[in-house]
Parts: sequence; C-alpha cells; structure tokens
Amino acid sequence: MKDSEWFQYRVQYHAQAYGESFRSVSLRQDVALSLNMTDRASSSTSVAVAPTPARVQDVRDDLASRIVRTPCVPWSGLESPIDGELWLKMEVFQRTGSFKARGALNSLRQLADPTSGVVAFSAGNHAIATAWAARECGVEATVVMPRSANAARVARVERLGARLVLGDTIADLVAIVEGLQQEEGLALIHPFEGEAIIEGTATAGLELIQDGGPFDVVYVPIGGGGLIAGVASFIKQVLPTCRIVGVEPAGADGMRQSLKAGAPLDSVVVDTIADSLGAPMHRPYSFSLINQYVDDIVTVSDDQMREAMRRVFNDMKLAVEPACVASIAALSMDASDLQEQRVCVLACGSNIDQASWYRHVSGAGEGVS
Ligand SMILES: Cc1ncc(COP(=O)(O)O)c(C=O)c1O
Repeated sequence: MKDSEWFQYRVQYHAQAYGESFRSVSLRQDVALSLNMTDRASSSTSVAVAPTPARVQDVRDDLASRIVRTPCVPWSGLESPIDGELWLKMEVFQRTGSFKARGALNSLRQLADPTSGVVAFSAGNHAIATAWAARECGVEATVVMPRSANAARVARVERLGARLVLGDTIADLVAIVEGLQQEEGLALIHPFEGEAIIEGTATAGLELIQDGGPFDVVYVPIGGGGLIAGVASFIKQVLPTCRIVGVEPAGADGMRQSLKAGAPLDSVVVDTIADSLGAPMHRPYSFSLINQYVDDIVTVSDDQMREAMRRVFNDMKLAVEPACVASIAALSMDASDLQEQRVCVLACGSNIDQASWYRHVSGAGEGVS
C-alpha cells in the first residue's frame, strides 16, 4: 500500500471509530494554514519547502534497519495531567536515548563523501547520536562539546569512539567546528538545521500518526527547532486539522522570540534546567517550517518541569530528562481545553544521570513515591 493510500485508509478507519468529525479530514500536499499564535510577526525570511510525506516515508524505510520504531503508548497511570486521551511517542527508547539518532543517521547516509569524517557540536543528545551514527556507518566522528556539558553525556560520546574536543563559550565551539571543517575537510552534521536533519525528525511524526493517530493535538518540545519542524510539517500535510503546539522553557524561549521578530535569532540567552532545549541560536530553514506549520508555542518554568518529572516517575515509572517532560508540564496548564481530545506528546529523550535526575525531582512537590 502506498503511503498516500495508507493515510486515506487510516482517515476512513478513524472516521468509523471516532465519528463524523474525522470524515472531513483530507489529504493535502500544498498547505496554507491559518496560525493562531497572536504575537507572530510576518516573516522576512524566504519560505522553506517541507519534505513531502512520500519522501519522509522513503527516509523512514531507508532507516528502518537501524532506527527503532518506538511505541506510541497511552498514559498508563492514574495521575494523567488531562481528562482527554493522552498518548506518548516514546523516543526515550530510541537508539542513543533520543530522537536525535534519526536526523544524525539520515544526514550521514546522505553525505556524498564521508571519508574525511564528520563533525558535530552539541551539549548532549546530538553529540551522542552523531557519534553513534558515525560508528554505524564506519565513519570517523569528531564531537565538539562545551566544557560544562554533563559528564555522563561526555562519557557516552567517548565510549562510542568519537574524538572529543571541548570548548568554553559558544563562540569557541563555532570557531573550533569551522576550523575542523576547513583544515580537515570534516562534514558538519548540524544539530537541528537542514533538509536531511528535518527529514529524519519527520519520521518520528510519521510513526506517531501511523501508530497512534489521528490526534487532535500534538505537543513537541523546541530546542533549536529541528524536531518540531519535521514533525509539524509532516503532520500538517497529512492531517491538517491536528493542532501542533511547541513547548519551550521560559528560560530558553528563542523560537517564540524569533517568531515575534519575524526572523530566526542569531543569539539567545539560555537559563534552564532543560539543557537539551537550550539552543543558543535559530536557523532559517527550521524557523520557516515552524512559522508555517506550528499553531502555537507555550513556555514552561523549571519548577513546572521538575513537577512533571516527578509525575512521570510516580505515575509511569519513567526517569527522564527535563526536556522530555516539558510537554507534560505544558499539558497541565492547558488541561481545561483538552477534555475529550486525543492528545499526543513527543517524549523526546531520556539522557540524564542519576544524580541530576534525583536533584531535580527532589526539588519538586511531594517528592517521589
Ligand atoms: C531530548 C531532546 N528533546 C528535544 C530537543 C530539541 O530538539 P531541536 O533542537 O531539534 O528543537 C533536543 C535537542 O537536543 C533533545 O536532545
């Protein structure tokens, strides 16, 4: 069955299962959406073209032998943050512990000449994912990380056999990466920008809809923006009625600021416990897709994420990083609007060490039980 036929089938199936409202859902490849975020400026950047659903299906097929088709599961506990139906797309079980493996592997597989090796810069999950993907493809990887990066993440990168280079400031890291590109001919695997990365992240959106959909609302966390750009652009092309809500930490709301400004910000001040969501800058391709396909962006505080970490541990027995629960924290705020809705959150990653996890949850509410 071709993917367009498959979606038609799913739409019909859900129309029978969930009633008339789904009959109006139709497939669309060309999208001109009305967006709800009230304080969005008209964008001065060029309009990016998203990967088509057929292309995303091809990429998914290409990655199939190495990427886990992570389960989409219903909230299993008694302390759900909403009265509606809540599902989680469990990228916490993805190779390397986060969705980042998808974009990194897709980027590596598309390199014309990977023989000189690749370079990535990241404080965590993208670093681990690139080291893993390079090892899978038999390519040398150099990973540039801030000296302040979590020690457990640095250790994982080294265990995967990547060459590690540490820097102090963002400017240092960028200079090191540029130097390595020029001097050693290394190919950059960007953490969130570019078609190959976004085709990779879109495959998580494809699985989420195929395995659990359709949904009324999908919540996706935002760091640099590559994850939500892929997931939102895929979902809106096949299920335009689905609302996509982006979630940022209040201390790292660079995408919200960028949308307000009408252009991706080059420099963002970051102060949040969700280290995976602390992107220091944004970029045009992912920004443009977000501008076209994301309905709204909400922000959550560090305390709300600590409380959500406690909740997912107590109710689901999941010990995950703050970025992973940002959407759960957001749901708690939107609960009254989500009654009788089918809601999915992208549980994006699990990489946190025991001491940091305990420090966060023991600072939240009633503690763990
Ligand atoms: C676990 C996790 N969730 C979410 C994100 C945000 O992804 P993006 O930077 O593509 O917006 C990241 C980024 O590193 C991450 O590691």
